[in-house]
Amino acid sequence: MREHVLLIGGGGREHAIARALEDSEATLYACAGNRNPGIARIANEFETLETTDPEAVVEYAKAVDATIAVVGPEAPLAAGVADALEEAGVYAFGPKEADARIETDKAFQRRFMAENDIPGCPDFETFDDSEAACDFIDEYDGDLAIKPAGLTGGKGVKVIGDQVTAEEGKAYIRESDYDRIVLEERLVGEEVTIQAIVANGGFETAPAVQDHKRAYEGDEGPNTGGMGSYSDATFELPFMTEDDYERAVEIIEATVDALDDYRGILYGQFMLTAEGPKVVEFNARFGDPEAMNTLPVLEIDFLDVLVAARDGEAPPELEFADQATVCKYAVPEGYPTDPKAGAEVQVDEESVARSVRATEKSSGEQDDPRESADDAVLFYASVDERDDGIYTTTSRSFAVVGLADTIDEAEAIAEDALEVAGEEGLHMRHDIGKADLVQRRIDHMTELRGE
Ligand code: AMP
Ligand code: GLY
Repeated sequence: MREHVLLIGGGGREHAIARALEDSEATLYACAGNRNPGIARIANEFETLETTDPEAVVEYAKAVDATIAVVGPEAPLAAGVADALEEAGVYAFGPKEADARIETDKAFQRRFMAENDIPGCPDFETFDDSEAACDFIDEYDGDLAIKPAGLTGGKGVKVIGDQVTAEEGKAYIRESDYDRIVLEERLVGEEVTIQAIVANGGFETAPAVQDHKRAYEGDEGPNTGGMGSYSDATFELPFMTEDDYERAVEIIEATVDALDDYRGILYGQFMLTAEGPKVVEFNARFGDPEAMNTLPVLEIDFLDVLVAARDGEAPPELEFADQATVCKYAVPEGYPTDPKAGAEVQVDEESVARSVRATEKSSGEQDDPRESADDAVLFYASVDERDDGIYTTTSRSFAVVGLADTIDEAEAIAEDALEVAGEEGLHMRHDIGKADLVQRRIDHMTELRGE
């Protein structure tokens, strides 16, 4: 029987998932709060609905006879959408609400690591009283990261000694009305993401990716959902050793073992410190933007991953093209503090039409354009397609991904694609993936390691 796959979510990550299923032997259905034109084009049917409403999602899943559902973003997971689908007899690739707490509750996450002796856990304390948290800041010998325990779209964390002083940090705690706060040791190093596909006790990891959280070039400005990211043609990044990668995977393995039958994506965000990788956070889904680096180079059929998980098997071995990727997001002006929603986005898709698939999955033609050195892919994100055009929302608008043999070449391709896609009314970080930025990361790690 042909699988009916329901994709939940309408961002860039979900466009990447849709594209990874485009040539599969499956009929794709999609639902999201915004009509993502990229997903709508690939899917057999696109329904606009509230994805944090489990009943609405289940109703649609039933209506399209979904056999497998893929939950893209964290908000539906936190709302129990995977649980509701399971109860309705639809296999959901994504953790249940209780398991998603590894992402949705940072206090739970740290305690879970500590209780299960998972390596790479920074020193931490959790608080439900603002004044007690402020006292701890006064008493602690060193810098701390201030983290609201709940979901903030990656924008709630303030790091003392980096973005704020201790006084500003305390003022932030007092002004915001978070009921629970985690204070943890400030980790110093370079950040990397490693995403694992987890099912039935097994897991498989993808190449490391580096995201860029800060809104402005040179890692300045407020934290965002992620402004862009790059990966190399190997599993490591240029500032990372094979040992770093292996140690991070050991942390993922210990976490998968401690979780009870977790399924879906386990996203590890690591800080490579002088003492090795430490966990910045776990997420319960693909990264956005990182999915746009990873899925275009995945050489096996993503449907096989979903079917294996559904059928009680461990994930199949993942294979990736030996290609570097650079992803750059275009976001509404003012994002993330004061984003201008409702502006028309003029994307010149024709010009990015060399947005040909970089995977060699179904190749065979002599002159496969996917093997050309100038592959660029366009992913729509949180834009809304209406009858008269495509409009910005308050979140990220679209992304381009360059794929090539080196990060340098992939960066140049991404820049060309951004230029032809159209940049009017939008903001982007041109520095992501550029040689001097990558070199700074290498120098930083060399300095930290005292080499
Ligand atoms: P999170 O929402 O946990 O991903 O945090 C957002 C960003 O804050 C991370 O990508 C890091 O750049 C930074 N961050 C979080 N925790 C720490 C920490 N313990 N030390 C230093 N930076 C951190
Ligand atoms: N790129 C960061 C995230 O997906 O949370």
